[in-house]
Amino acid sequence: METLVLSDRCPGDIQAAGAILRRGGLVAIPTETVYGLAANALDGEAVKKIYRAKGRPSDNPLIVHISDPAQLPPLVQEVPESAKKLAAAFWPGPLTIILPKSDRIPRETSGGLDTVAVRCPSHPTARAVIDAAEVPLAAPSANLSGRPSPTTFHHVQEDLTGRVDALLDGGDCDVGVESTVLTLATPVPRLLRPGGVTLSQLRNVLGEVEVDPAVLHRMKAGQRAASPGMKYKHYSPKAEVVIVDAAPQEYVEYVNQRGDGWALCFEEDAPFLQVPALAYGSRYDSASQAHRLFEALHGLDEAGVVKAYAAMPRKRGVGLAVYNRLIRAAAFQVINPKGRHILGLTGPTGAGKSTAAQVLRDRGWLVVDCDQATRSPLVYDGPCLAELSTAFGPQVLRDGMLDRAELARRAFSSEEARTRLGEITFPRILRYVRKLLEEGEAQGYRQLALDAPTLLEAGLDSICSRVLVVNAPKEDRLARILRRDGLTPEAALRRLEAQPSPEFYASRADFLVENGPGTDMKAALAPFLEELEQELENPSL
Ligand code: TXA
Ligand code: MG
Repeated sequence: METLVLSDRCPGDIQAAGAILRRGGLVAIPTETVYGLAANALDGEAVKKIYRAKGRPSDNPLIVHISDPAQLPPLVQEVPESAKKLAAAFWPGPLTIILPKSDRIPRETSGGLDTVAVRCPSHPTARAVIDAAEVPLAAPSANLSGRPSPTTFHHVQEDLTGRVDALLDGGDCDVGVESTVLTLATPVPRLLRPGGVTLSQLRNVLGEVEVDPAVLHRMKAGQRAASPGMKYKHYSPKAEVVIVDAAPQEYVEYVNQRGDGWALCFEEDAPFLQVPALAYGSRYDSASQAHRLFEALHGLDEAGVVKAYAAMPRKRGVGLAVYNRLIRAAAFQVINPKGRHILGLTGPTGAGKSTAAQVLRDRGWLVVDCDQATRSPLVYDGPCLAELSTAFGPQVLRDGMLDRAELARRAFSSEEARTRLGEITFPRILRYVRKLLEEGEAQGYRQLALDAPTLLEAGLDSICSRVLVVNAPKEDRLARILRRDGLTPEAALRRLEAQPSPEFYASRADFLVENGPGTDMKAALAPFLEELEQELENPSL
């Protein structure tokens, strides 16, 4: 088949795409998530061609794309209040809503189900094509079945040239992973596929939202898929991909030491890797990971990679979508090289970190207290004292012992002096803390935590496999510091203001507890800790 190449920068090409679709043809179109392979959703014969072109099993239903929320009512039995709220909050955008279908939706489109998936994309070209076609468009991702979804026009050309009527070039896709799929056809709304609209955003609008087990775990044999797409092998590059569940430093060490595969890493890891590497975004920015993941998976194929070790993404926010796709690319292979977790525990002063530390201890975790380590005489050995005295003057020693008050006066006199103090003490504190953790491991602990107020600022998260941030509203933190530390209100406020921003903490947290009045810390941490404990028992869930 001759495949026409169109571009959304050419006047007339959108109309041309619309005309092909109206005639029952297939056109690949850009959306803000991934490219879609579109056909008239109301024409069963046209839709059949999609399955043929993609090699897609015919019981896997398609998403129907509309250009305006007002086009939803004729496609479904009724529009419940929850759907109205979701549409108002997230359409146009990367959210697909499943509802009982109307008779206008042919069996081919719904894969034989009595429900239909609908979304209103935000990409102006996608909406212009829907308008030009004058019908809703059924569009799965524009890849061959089982291949990574296409996020660049080049990917689409690779998979579909010669198989469809036209390809419409609209540049790179923004979000990079497919839309969030939520069904409203269950008693409680249920997340079937995570995407650009996050679980917490959905919960903010709807209240309770369940997560289908297939989002995070391999489906057991004989289990029925809530979303037929989830039972198929998905998003697999030709390379064998293994997710390495380890601290950033350990990930790099492990991959270097294996030396038998590529690294599918974060940008921050690249300089330290001695094997060929492809980065999929920044460790601290899940949106950048979503944007880059499929392109990186394509890159593995293009380079003919046989084995790749992937760095573990955070599962929070858009990260859940990244993990959901990556775990499938990895055929659920996860290894934790040392068979343990080191959990970094941090948060701004007065947020309630020590309460969290106590919850961890009560659950049998070994908690290393970094503040205590900072004051330990074992850090301030002979060579350390000699360096401090050279840097800050012999007065910081009295009878060969450290005069802490004098050191503090001198070291906190300027930014420069403070930095110098850090240069001398920090490597030693790190060494000492590592020793404490190693001793814990030697005693058989598999659940270790590092309680450190400046964990992130000091870069100690590089030795942690997960980060738990305890935050609290500013007023509550202020009240706690005033009660606890006997400061003047001005001094307390100054201390609060010297702390990193909530965004900084959030970007580095695997789990974030908001410790307001009445928060039950034990209950708040339970789901997160249970997950970690289960992972240790069985890394490839
Ligand atoms: O971002 C996206 O959603 C992209 C762009 C092109 O819009 N489309 C996309 O479509 O990812 P597709 O076909 O690759 O994925 C649709 C998913 C499949 O897992 C399918 O099983 C599920 O949605 N699905 C569709 N209709 C359903 C229904 N009625 N009930 C349950 N799951 C459904
Ligand atoms: Mg797909």
